[in-house]
Amino acid sequence: MTTYVISGAGRGIGLELTRQLQDRGDTVIALCRRADQALADTGADVIEGIDLTSDASMRELRERLGDTPVDVLVNNAGVLTRENLDSLDFDAIRRQFEVNTLGPLRLTATLLGNLESGSRVAIVTSRMGSIADNGSGGYYGYRASKAAVNAVGMSLARDLADRGIAVALLHPGMVATDMTGGNGIPPSQAAAGLIQRIDALDLDSTGTWWHANGDVLPW
Ligand SMILES: NC(=O)c1ccc[n+]([C@@H]2O[C@H](COP(=O)([O-])OP(=O)(O)OC[C@H]3O[C@@H](n4cnc5c(N)ncnc54)[C@H](OP(=O)(O)O)[C@@H]3O)[C@@H](O)[C@H]2O)c1
Repeated sequence: MTTYVISGAGRGIGLELTRQLQDRGDTVIALCRRADQALADTGADVIEGIDLTSDASMRELRERLGDTPVDVLVNNAGVLTRENLDSLDFDAIRRQFEVNTLGPLRLTATLLGNLESGSRVAIVTSRMGSIADNGSGGYYGYRASKAAVNAVGMSLARDLADRGIAVALLHPGMVATDMTGGNGIPPSQAAAGLIQRIDALDLDSTGTWWHANGDVLPW
């Protein structure tokens, strides 16, 4: 039985990841800010009140987990706001960096003591963070925060390799969640692809950026 920790498990892709992993017999420790019935219904072990921007939340999480071994950490939580050059909101841009870039770094650092040789770390990033693939501009905070988390993920891959921990950067596709106003593929399809990529992750493939469909993406 594999133990997963998933951030942003209350809705969208995180909820669907939690549901599918629980259904196949794995154990999910589901992190959320506020728990609801949908998450409880998955049977996951829910830890409520965890805000990725809060050091107090990280201390509480460390206390709650104690020395529980974590096989897979999925940094899934994220936020998107839409800025263009005519509507720059620097507070919103900073907020996206806090959640999308620093959140995965903060959470991974918090759980380092729970990760063992053979553990895996996934970061759900976005193809919108690809500099090579940016054909339409805009989205200053989201694109930059996701490009930056790709850099964080690569450093984690390098730093954790000696400890036997593999790290993947994963794009889920365009998925029908609150983030996209319900446009895109079903969360169930995205989650199934992400789980396949995480299952296949090892030290030979650490530091790779995949689309959930298996394509390797350009930085
Ligand atoms: N949907 C897409 O098409 C798409 C495409 C590419 C990448 N992604 C990425 O996939 C991930 C999941 O997105 P989604 O589509 O499932 O979005 P979503 O439905 O909007 O869910 C976002 C999740 O992140 C959590 N979250 C936001 N801020 C947080 C914070 N400060 N602390 C803790 N949790 C926080 C939310 O918790 P609350 O419920 O408490 O707000 C929620 O559970 C994100 O990283 C996103 O960037 C999504």
